[in-house]
Amino acid sequence: MGHGLFVTLEGGEGAGKSTLARTLKGKLESEGRAVVLTREPGGTPGAEQIRELLVRGDADRWSAMTEALLFYAARVDHVEKVIRPEVAAGRIVISDRFADSTLAYQGAAGGVPRERLKALHEIALGNFQPALTLLIDIPPETGLSRTKGRDGIEARFESKALAFHARLRAAYHALAESEPGRFVVLDGGQPPDVIAQQALSAILERLGDG
Ligand code: TMP
Repeated sequence: MGHGLFVTLEGGEGAGKSTLARTLKGKLESEGRAVVLTREPGGTPGAEQIRELLVRGDADRWSAMTEALLFYAARVDHVEKVIRPEVAAGRIVISDRFADSTLAYQGAAGGVPRERLKALHEIALGNFQPALTLLIDIPPETGLSRTKGRDGIEARFESKALAFHARLRAAYHALAESEPGRFVVLDGGQPPDVIAQQALSAILERLGDG
């Protein structure tokens, strides 16, 4: 068995992260790798309960700072119970969203100062970070049109104004530029199999097989 790796998928609404996660699992498993797919908010029973609080209800139900605290409560449970143990056991853990989502959604788009979120991360998780973050970049109009017709109950963040989603995209670009060693930006306008191949190469490179 190879060594473990923690990979995260990031992007706005309807970027195609969940589809990419499933495709990657299939491709990596066919190369003999053990893969765990997970998501945030969620990934453990307790964190899934916190997810219910976050994704349902009115758009202005929580302030961005309250949201950040709830996301981190869920994240710590997820890291302690799933991410750290699975990576230590030699598995590739692929999480649909992680801490960069908080920096983009609650920080840049939601208005919580970046330093406060950095401090929160440090208190909650120290310097724990993914080894690789795949950012799927698509215009917010395209992503939001893809999410139409999905589960209407979970639409709290999707229902925010288009300007919020445009800030989100700019925030993700800035994050990727500030940490070029961790981020790989994928053009979400390409065919899904091309995106999956680029993502797979990035993962194999990190594993030392690329
Ligand atoms: P999902 O739709 O990708 O499952 O994510 C649920 C929503 O939660 C999505 O609109 C993004 C949002 N979110 C944040 O605002 N901050 C976070 O830290 C995370 C993990 C998700």
